[in-house]
Amino acid sequence: MVVSFKSVSKSFGDIEALKNASFEVKKGEFLFITGPSGAGKTTVLKLILKEYLPDSGEILFNGKDLSEVASKELPFLRQKIGVVFQDMKVLPERTVRENVEVGLAVLGVYEDEWKERVDQVLKLVGLEKRADQFPSQLSGGELQRVSLARALIIDPIIILADEPTGNLDWETTKAIMKIFEKVNQNGKTVIMATHNKMIIDDFSKRKIELKNGEIVKDGGLKLSPKKMEEKESEKETEKESEKETKENINKENKKKKDEEKKEIKDEEAIKEAKFEEKMKVKVEEV
Ligand SMILES: Nc1ncnc2c1ncn2[C@@H]1O[C@H](COP(=O)(O)OP(=O)(O)OP(=O)(O)O)[C@@H](O)[C@H]1O
Ligand SMILES: [Mg+2]
Repeated sequence: MVVSFKSVSKSFGDIEALKNASFEVKKGEFLFITGPSGAGKTTVLKLILKEYLPDSGEILFNGKDLSEVASKELPFLRQKIGVVFQDMKVLPERTVRENVEVGLAVLGVYEDEWKERVDQVLKLVGLEKRADQFPSQLSGGELQRVSLARALIIDPIIILADEPTGNLDWETTKAIMKIFEKVNQNGKTVIMATHNKMIIDDFSKRKIELKNGEIVKDGGLKLSPKKMEEKESEKETEKESEKETKENINKENKKKKDEEKKEIKDEEAIKEAKFEEKMKVKVEEV
C-alpha cells in the first residue's frame, strides 16, 4: 500500500474540507480524485505531502504513519513524491535542462550522472529537442511537460498531480495524459486531482469522488492492462464453455424429442397394426 487514509478529517475554521475519509492506494495504481471546486481534492494531496496536518484519523505513506514523520525528516518524505501542480514551479531564468537538474542537485546526485538521467526523462516527456530552451520559449503544454520531468527526475514512488492540464486545450491535455499513463505503466503510482469530466471519461481509471469533503464514490481498483487481458481471456473461456454447455443441452433436448417422437411413432404404428389386425378380423368375420 502506498497511501492509506483511515477516517481522516480536516477543517479550516468552520469549513470541513475533508470528512472522515478512508481509502487506500496500491502500488502501481492510477487514481483520479474528482469532485466540484472546493470538494477537498487539493486538501487530500496536501495531506499526503504533510503540508496539512489532519485534525483526526491516520495517514500512512509507504507504510509509515505521517504523524510520526518529524519535520527534519520531511524533505526525505517529499523526495519520494513527485509533484505536478497547476501553478507550475518552473524557474524562468533556467533552461529546461537546468530546471530538471535542480531535482538532482537537491538529491545530491553526482554531476556526472545528471546528463544521462535528464536526457532519459526529457525523452519520456517528449522534450529532448527543447533541453536548451528557456521557459519563455515554450507553450503551456510544453511547460507542463517540464513540470512532469521535474517530478520524475527524483525517481519518486508516487506522482501527485493537481489539475495538471487545467490551462491546456483538449489535444494537448490528451498528449499530457498519455505521458502520465506511460509513467504509470512504467510502475509509478499516480494520484491525479481533476474535475475535468472529459479526462475522466476518456481515461478509464479508478475514481474517488468527493463532495463537500466527503467521499461519495470510490470506483474500486482498476486492473492493469495485463490483468484485464487475463480477465478477458477468462471471460472468453467461460463464454466458450457456456456455449458448449448450451450446445450439449440443445443436443440432449433434441435427442429426447427425437426419442419421444419415435416413441409416439412406434405407438402409432402399434395402434395402426392393431387397427389393421381388427379390421382384418372383421373382414374375415364378414
Ligand atoms: N489553507 C486553507 N485555508 C483555509 N481554507 C482552505 C485551505 N485549503 C482549503 N481550504 C478550503 O477547504 C475546502 C476544500 O478545498 P480544496 O482546495 O481541497 O478544494 P478542491 O476540491 O481542490 O477545489 P478546486 O477544484 O477549486 O481546486 C474549500 O472550501 C477551501 O476553501
Ligand atoms: Mg484544488
